[in-house]
Amino acid sequence: MSESVTITDNRTGETIEIPIENGGISAKAFSKHMPGLWFYDPGFTATASTSSAITYLDGGNGVLRYRGYPIEQLAEKSTFLEVCYLLINGELPSATEMETWRHDITHHTFIHENMRKRFTEGFHHDAHPMGMLTSAIAALSTFYPEAKDISDPENRKKQINRLISKVPTLAAMAYRASIGMPFVYPDNTLNYAENFLSMMWRVAEPVYEADPVLSKALDTLLILHADHEQNCSTTTMRVVGSSHSDPYVSAAAATSALYGPRHGGANEQVIHMLNEIGSYENIPAFIEKVKQGDVRLMGFGHRVYKAYDPRATIVKEQADKVFAVTGRSPLLDIALKLEEIALEDDYFKSRNLYPNVDFYTGLIYQSMGIPMDMFTVMFTIGRMPGWLSHWEELMVEEQRIARPRQLYTGPDERDYVDIASR
Ligand code: CMC
Repeated sequence: MSESVTITDNRTGETIEIPIENGGISAKAFSKHMPGLWFYDPGFTATASTSSAITYLDGGNGVLRYRGYPIEQLAEKSTFLEVCYLLINGELPSATEMETWRHDITHHTFIHENMRKRFTEGFHHDAHPMGMLTSAIAALSTFYPEAKDISDPENRKKQINRLISKVPTLAAMAYRASIGMPFVYPDNTLNYAENFLSMMWRVAEPVYEADPVLSKALDTLLILHADHEQNCSTTTMRVVGSSHSDPYVSAAAATSALYGPRHGGANEQVIHMLNEIGSYENIPAFIEKVKQGDVRLMGFGHRVYKAYDPRATIVKEQADKVFAVTGRSPLLDIALKLEEIALEDDYFKSRNLYPNVDFYTGLIYQSMGIPMDMFTVMFTIGRMPGWLSHWEELMVEEQRIARPRQLYTGPDERDYVDIASR
């Protein structure tokens, strides 16, 4: 059996054989022989836009690994900061490397005072924190103009450290500004998750002591969100990065992609949906509306997973631990019932629709006191190392600028008609 495919152009009878490599065939090898004939693939459902050594995802069997390590093991044994190192550098750090990494990240958490004062004050009083965060990430580009030198690996490393360090500070800043509370400076004595919680909630106490169950749950959720191969925002990061824009504006573009309700905005939509359903007896009518195609069951379905999302299993376990501390959310019962019905219903079964990572994350965040409009912001903090590891991979491999083709379906050539004659 030959590891290749043979394609025949029936217009000319020309046949080409293309080798199968890493589970794919080269479109370039195809177009070299059949120029002007493009693969039509809106939404990139069957197109590999790159090769990557970062994340392995087997959607049929519910498998997710970062650099070869199963997500279940990382969620149980690792920390978000260690996972960031793993994604970016390809290997788990030694104890010394981890110490240096922790030090580097912890000591870059501060932001320029102009960001905190004038920049934040420019927003409308009820600005959405995700809009503020997106703009703030882009604005970092103006504070670090040296980031434009993307050809220097050491310089790239510096910007990567800055982004991972500063995003929680910017996120908490956006939140505090949106509720009219003063900014809380980072506390370098705390770990990554604790420091974020401190910047969110600290009032007048000298040191904010987060509940260890809640900070561990937050750290675990960040691990689960850290990378997910070529999703919409990561692809955006690569597409923008391929034009050699600096990492701050590229990450701001990725953040914008994440903002949408079909991507990172889904956990916020899940809570809206659960609130709208309101009580147990309204569930059957809601499921009927979903099956009629009037609404979607938010937090269900995934482009790649056609089995239970392995991240959702871990999130569910965390939910139990968090609710033991915070008390059970009344919306949880509605969510559990929805899941139970959907897993039995032919509509969902035949379309392989299972809960995804976002079905339960919103409930956890909500019970921790994190407001709904911060949910996508939380996702951004988690996904930042994923975006940056893909950006670094893109830079090292010196990939060409992203420039897909289109199939033109507009009018043929026609003559301009003067406005008076139209
Ligand atoms: N509820 C009801 N029906 C659905 C849903 C849903 N959540 N998702 C897909 N379907 C149906 C869809 O109507 C279609 O049915 P039919 O074949 O009869 O037309 C079929 O399933 C295939 O759907 P699709 O839209 O072709 O699937 P997609 O791969 O383009 O979309 C998705 C993937 C995640 C955008 C979609 O499942 C969705 O909108 N889910 C709800 C939003 C959500 O939870 N998003 C978070 C994704 S996980 C976090 C992340 O990675 O960002």
